[in-house]
Amino acid sequence: MKHLLSAADLDRDQAVKLLDMAEEMAATQAREIKKLPTLRGKTVVNLFFEDSTRTRISFETAAKRLSADVINFTPKGSSVSKGESLKDTVLTLGAMHTDGIVVRHSASGAPYQIAHSTWTDASVINAGDGTHQHPTQSLLDAMTIRRHLSAESRAGTGQGSDLTGQDLVGQDLSGLKITIVGDVLHSRVARSGVDLFTTLGAQVTLVAPATLLPVGVETWPCQVFYDLDQGLAEQPPDALMMLRVQRERMSSAGGGFFPSPQEYSREYGLDAKRLAALAPHAIVMHPGPMNRGLEITSEAADSKRSVIVEQVANGVAIRMAVLYLTLTGTKE
Ligand code: CP
Repeated sequence: MKHLLSAADLDRDQAVKLLDMAEEMAATQAREIKKLPTLRGKTVVNLFFEDSTRTRISFETAAKRLSADVINFTPKGSSVSKGESLKDTVLTLGAMHTDGIVVRHSASGAPYQIAHSTWTDASVINAGDGTHQHPTQSLLDAMTIRRHLSAESRAGTGQGSDLTGQDLVGQDLSGLKITIVGDVLHSRVARSGVDLFTTLGAQVTLVAPATLLPVGVETWPCQVFYDLDQGLAEQPPDALMMLRVQRERMSSAGGGFFPSPQEYSREYGLDAKRLAALAPHAIVMHPGPMNRGLEITSEAADSKRSVIVEQVANGVAIRMAVLYLTLTGTKE
């Protein structure tokens, strides 16, 4: 695997292999010395044209744990602020013999353009492009779901977080119900999640107001509800993922996508009442950053069911696995 551009590019076996490798990487992170020599001598550039906390820091951590040299690039303070193009920026990185480029960009397709150009022969990893894809987010979400809702835990032994990586090897998400709620229209997390979770055998349900669903959603491999309480009742989820309302991609606070934050919260927010109605084993997820009080209350975000911090922790292991597989071209 040279690049990772989209969750849709992964077949079931590739996705399971990535999850298995991430478990191996996670096991190394429990050691006193966390650093592995695997990518010594390789250079990774984090090319982030959009803001990020979790993704950028976890890619940096992952690359450093694998002993790669890491360069962090942001437009502010670079020649992008003087008008330099994406092409010339990437050509400049190529001239410095970069091995891997982790790219986040507001333009959907920017990582594809870099990967399929003659500007660089580096591996390209999509860290989020516009409203299109965020493949490592869906992988870390799948890792989190697999850990908690493995076949063993589904068989009645309770939540599976005490399972070891070895117990999970080869498992997919077959038989699980995953519900994704909120601003699907602007969400690369939702698109990547639908692609990956269905590839891994899960049944995915989307819940959103009609104004926050993309044109053509009826062709996606999932059921769609416009009413959250109806969706939760008819398709009780094993994993409930609340999406961030992406106000920065709307022209004003609500951008006309919903009448008011209060109404959105009432109709589509995860509150204590909806939390209490979930199945006892169900987990609550959010990709972050959260709008507490809008799509999720603090009570739900900080509850025992919440695996939101675990999602972040699993991001390091997933990104170690992705960097390893793309930069070494290793199949095993
Ligand atoms: N989930 C996610 O992509 O978060 P950041 O924007 O903080 O990287």
